[in-house]
Amino acid sequence: MGSLNNKRVLLGITGGIAAYKCADLSRRLRDAGADVRVVMTEAAEAFVTPLTMQAVSGHPVHQYLLDPGTESAMGHIELARWADIILIAPASANFLAKLASGRADDLLSTLCSAASAPLAVAPAMNRQMWHNRATQDNLKTLQQRQVLILGPAEGAQACGEHGPGRMLEPVELVDAIRNCFASGVLDGLNVMVTAGPTWEAIDAVRGLSNRSSGKMGYAVAQAATEAGATVTLVSGPVKISSPDRVHTIDVTSALDMLDAVNQYIDTADIFIAVAAVSDYRVAHPATEKIKKTGDAITLELVENPDILAAVASRPQAPFTVGFAAETSNIETCAYEKLLQKNVDLIAANQVGDSDSGFDADYNSLLVIGRDYKTLLEKQYKTRLARKLITIIAEQYHAKNTTQDSRPQAR
Ligand code: C5P
Repeated sequence: MGSLNNKRVLLGITGGIAAYKCADLSRRLRDAGADVRVVMTEAAEAFVTPLTMQAVSGHPVHQYLLDPGTESAMGHIELARWADIILIAPASANFLAKLASGRADDLLSTLCSAASAPLAVAPAMNRQMWHNRATQDNLKTLQQRQVLILGPAEGAQACGEHGPGRMLEPVELVDAIRNCFASGVLDGLNVMVTAGPTWEAIDAVRGLSNRSSGKMGYAVAQAATEAGATVTLVSGPVKISSPDRVHTIDVTSALDMLDAVNQYIDTADIFIAVAAVSDYRVAHPATEKIKKTGDAITLELVENPDILAAVASRPQAPFTVGFAAETSNIETCAYEKLLQKNVDLIAANQVGDSDSGFDADYNSLLVIGRDYKTLLEKQYKTRLARKLITIIAEQYHAKNTTQDSRPQAR
């Protein structure tokens, strides 16, 4: 079965008695991992209130095409781009006719014509309306355009008749939408990633930092999200924007980073430390800008806590992955680091090369576990991150399977 983790479902509700089931449908879509936004036609409001749908979807409902307020918040084109899939449930005979003829005279029909996301419809109507030649012709047209037709089911109808025209049950619709997507290797897991440099203040304007751009850590966070994980990214100061669908916490110093990690680590299944954390901080940073005096000055530096080692030594430690930037003897140094910090995997790379590693778009990684070793050749960081996530998922699942199959102590 596919997965709805991190998927964006635009739920379009049109006018039909089955609309009352949409509160349950929205809740089930969210329970399955989807982010749900609701668009209602005017007729739908006769059967279910926008307030109900706002409460169950967690977002204001979109109703009008030419409303300046909603257009400035999230316009119809933006909404159309936002969706990974559009589900119209219930889809009335009138709305199917609009879709088939390509009309765009309200928000929902305009969205459907502006979106490139797959479209699924769950027809619901009286059985005579369903059998109507025009309705059947419209359905054929939609099918030819690759619109997914879900149902209808056969049974007792609200109008007292019996036959085809009942909307599929919410649980069946969720399964059908879920199957439109592949399942990911990190489905349902919580992943925490640290990224970027840290900034350790010397005075009000100066500080100690390094050349880390955050590109590798951000690519790892993005790849984990694509693999179905819920990702928290703790990031030092960088100039790149937060990856899509990732909860990003911005921090400055190593101590701030440790605080943010501690706040969320309890729920993490996997911790990936990509940040280039400053090993030392200034013992007593000046609150004002230090003025030059003509004499030499001495800064007292104290060691920062090792965030990765601290996470790995927790009683219920998540699966831990560290990075190691080395200038020589990569393999030996990385293996020593693995043992010393007691982590599950280390991804090591050679630094000092101008177009690879720090502040570059490319990188190569030697991934080392206690009895695992593989080289990921130099490639674009986003591709490299996807390969690394595949390895992390394999090693994580292998470790958990081994632990689960161990005999339990009596
Ligand atoms: O010891 P070294 O700095 O080479 O270790 C690198 C690994 O440890 C990286 O994964 C880095 O994010 C992590 N680290 C940390 N806290 C520190 C120093 C390094 O989490 N204070």
